[in-house]
Amino acid sequence: MPRIAYVNGLYRDLRDACVNVEDRGYQFADGVYEVCEVRGARLVDFSRHMTRLQRSLRELRIAEPMPVAALAIIMREVVRRNRVTYGMVYLQVTRGVARRDHAFPPNPVKPSVVITAHALNYEKKQQIAATGIKVITLPENRWPRVDIKSVSLLPNVLAKQQAREEGAYEAWYVDRDGFITEGASSNAWIVTADGRAVTRSVDVGILAGITRAVLMDVMKALQISLEERPFTPEEAREAAEAFVTSATQVVMPVVAIDGQVVGNGQPGGITRRLREEFHRFSAFS
Ligand code: PDD
Repeated sequence: MPRIAYVNGLYRDLRDACVNVEDRGYQFADGVYEVCEVRGARLVDFSRHMTRLQRSLRELRIAEPMPVAALAIIMREVVRRNRVTYGMVYLQVTRGVARRDHAFPPNPVKPSVVITAHALNYEKKQQIAATGIKVITLPENRWPRVDIKSVSLLPNVLAKQQAREEGAYEAWYVDRDGFITEGASSNAWIVTADGRAVTRSVDVGILAGITRAVLMDVMKALQISLEERPFTPEEAREAAEAFVTSATQVVMPVVAIDGQVVGNGQPGGITRRLREEFHRFSAFS
């Protein structure tokens, strides 16, 4: 079955789908993106992802390429054409095509839109969640505007690769004050010995994860207390539980940090419960 991508108005076979070599996304990473989980062939928490997309675009002064309702139709169509029931849909919007010059094009150009979707292996994901993942910590080396979901991800790419080479799945950044900010592609959490979930506040140093936000609703409903504050790698290694959140990992247990086991080395009870309950609280469209 051919894979299909939406590229600037056309549904194309992935092998033929291409963007202009002078697209500013290609030349300057001048663009933003969103990733939504797909479950039962439906988009998870689509509206919240679109609100964040609009904010990212505004912050970079890139025009909205089309109304959210139109994006919804196209994203669902890409999911349908690729027959994804469980997986992810990726949306990228760049400033558009213009002769190479760092400053914005003097005459506004149309933003470029690319949408792809692919299936993920549900059983495999569940198996990984059953044993948990390992993380490493690294010095924070990204730009300060990580609140914008920019396609400029080189530090994240290098961090993930280092994690992989060290036998881990995710890398947690540590800021200059010695506190964990977030993962290379996820938000970072711990659970204290007395059962409080802790994650950094969105004020500075992290992306406002949609999974993070929905999980806070889950916690409220399950009466799990929440603390939004920074925490150090030492506190994380000594924590009862740890986990990461993202659209594709949902709630993924962390069982080792920098080679040191967290808790008893198994996914924690609160983490497992949050993972199991998560989709009762997410919106499907
Ligand atoms: N990453 N922090 C970073 C740096 C991320 O890249 C992501 C998501 C998150 C979690 O955000 P959300 O819960 O909205 O997915 C936090 C996506 C999944 C990716 O780049 O593939």
